[in-house]
Order: sequence, then C-alpha cells, then structure tokens
Amino acid sequence: MSPPHYRREGRTLVNVLFVCLGNICRSPTAEGVFRALVRREGLDAVIKTDSAGTSDWHIGEPPDPRAQEAAKQRGVDLSDLRGRQARAQDFEDFDYVLAMDRRNHAALSLLASGGRGDRLHLFLSFAPHLGLTEVPDPYYGAGDGFEKVLDMIEAASRGLLDHIRETDLAR
Ligand code: 4NP
Repeated sequence: MSPPHYRREGRTLVNVLFVCLGNICRSPTAEGVFRALVRREGLDAVIKTDSAGTSDWHIGEPPDPRAQEAAKQRGVDLSDLRGRQARAQDFEDFDYVLAMDRRNHAALSLLASGGRGDRLHLFLSFAPHLGLTEVPDPYYGAGDGFEKVLDMIEAASRGLLDHIRETDLAR
C-alpha cells in the first residue's frame, strides 16, 4: 500500500488504483505487476499506483502467500503491500479505478459520485484481445488459479500502460 498521490501543478501525474474484493490476491498482484512495468519503462515519477478492496476483511494484511509466491516467480515483489478498503475519496484521488470483476465494479460505482464514474473501468477492458471481462477470484480455488490471474493481469497492464501513454502522457 502506498499513500494516494495527487496531480501537481505543471506536471502530469497519473494515479492508478486496482480494486478487488479482499485486496490480498488480485488487486495487489495487479498493483505489483503494473508498478514493475512502469518502473521498467522509466515512468515511476509520473504514474503512481495503489490497490484496495471493496470489503473490510483484510485491512492491514499483506497479500496472500500464494499470490506473493506466484508473483515472485515472475520477478514481482508484493511484500510491501498492505490491504485497505476502497472509499469515495478514491474517485477524487485516482484517475483510473480498475475493478477486477463485475461485483467489485458494481460496489465501486456506488462510491463514485459527482460525475467521477468515468474513472471506473473493468481492468480487463484494457486487454480486449483476451475476450474476457473478469479476473476470476483465485482465493478459494486450487491449481493454477494464480497463474491464470497473472497472465490476465500482465496483458491488461500492458494495455493500460499503452492507453495512458496515448491519452494522459501524450498531451
Ligand atoms: P481478492 O480475493 O478479492 O482477489 O483479494 C479474495 C480474498 C479473500 C476473500 C475473498 C476473495 N475472502 O473471502 O476472505
């Protein structure tokens, strides 16, 4: 978890928030993967990341050990992240609020007011070639659930970064 960052005068700062249910599996994985991509591309001074859960079940907790291990296998460290709950203020602080599935998209749309709903997207809308709308919840599943989640998140992270480059950073 990192504190929210705000747009500064005279400088583009793009703030991106990833949201799932518990903030211990999918959204911290997305934050870690996207953050690593942003760093690799030298954009960490202009794109800031955070993640949150729509539930209050895992506030203050590190990511699930299975999520941490699967990410580590792909060179992504999630160990500094901690759970927090999404709040209405997030729609003021973040330019992109990215829901992992429809349930969380619906919960977030209730928090968005004052015309800020245009900041809310299903994360996989940035990977249309996958033909999927939701990152499935791997929490109760067995097997390769976390690997599939990582594959989807890597694809959507690439698409999101391309979109931010073409829109927010091209100005
Ligand atoms: P996440 O997964 O939303 O991807 O973090 C879950 C984590 C915990 C629970 C459900 C989903 N739970 O029921 O505690």
